[in-house]
Amino acid sequence: MISSIETVTPAFGPHALAAGVEHIPVTVYGSSSQASRAVAQEIAALIQLKHARGEHTVLGLATGSTPTSIYDELIRLHREEGLSFKNVITFNLDEYWPMSPEELQSYRRFMREHLFDHVDIDPKNVHIPDGTLPMEKVAGFCAEYERKMRDAGGIDYQILGIGRTGHVGFNEPGSPRDSRTRLITLDRVTRMDAASDFFGEWNVPRKAITMGVESILSARTVVLLAFGEHKAPVIRRAVEGEVSAAVAASYLQQHPSARIVLDTSAATELTRFKTPWLLGPLEMFGLKWDSKTTRTAATWLAMTVKKPLL
Ligand code: PGA
Repeated sequence: MISSIETVTPAFGPHALAAGVEHIPVTVYGSSSQASRAVAQEIAALIQLKHARGEHTVLGLATGSTPTSIYDELIRLHREEGLSFKNVITFNLDEYWPMSPEELQSYRRFMREHLFDHVDIDPKNVHIPDGTLPMEKVAGFCAEYERKMRDAGGIDYQILGIGRTGHVGFNEPGSPRDSRTRLITLDRVTRMDAASDFFGEWNVPRKAITMGVESILSARTVVLLAFGEHKAPVIRRAVEGEVSAAVAASYLQQHPSARIVLDTSAATELTRFKTPWLLGPLEMFGLKWDSKTTRTAATWLAMTVKKPLL
């Protein structure tokens, strides 16, 4: 039996939302492992609920460093608490193109190593964009991928990471709201971020096959995770900025059941953490005017009005 879902009520999230600053629900956990455990347990509870009803669960899965602890916890739940993946169907967000499944950087290989080889999922229920196709077959493959998602009944629960460009999947800046699975040219920043995996930026493929923004927003529940300070600036844009093709993650603001799950480092640029005094009395945020907050606020004010502190 899976233990009940761990919920961490965001102490001041609703207030920030009420202040109109955050345009999407955000939950901040003390650590990435706590956050990952909570999301994995939510997924496990969904799988068990749907299994009990005799239904499949359709998961939208992501690769990269962010979701690995979720997969670790799902494997633990499978091994130690009897969670079965027999009724689970998966669709992965993306794959480099071209890319052979044997390559170290292949997302197909990543998913095998981090999840599929360790659970009882039926291989025919696993779907990952095919990086081996010749160019002339890619468009047909993408249309078929969309059809398979629809035929499976649509994605129940989609997990996402976020790139520094604001991409979800590989939907780089400029991706339209109505985009579907397609071949895309990777942003330079994304290729730079992948450089260490490929032993140099020049080895990173220039293209990828990715589910589109509309494919992602069609999921019934969408959870975007971000961990680490390097994600903080783009998280601020996705959460507090306008909905814009410049930051594909901002489209999640338009989804009725999308949420963002952060560790404290990825949350540091949000107004409620950076300059909470702009939103209302500090007590509302569980803070008080101690010497640290006072010093931070005074420095912020001096910088903002460009006047020295006397
Ligand atoms: P990361 O990548 O999880 O490795 O940070 C996320 C992404 O680029 O979508």
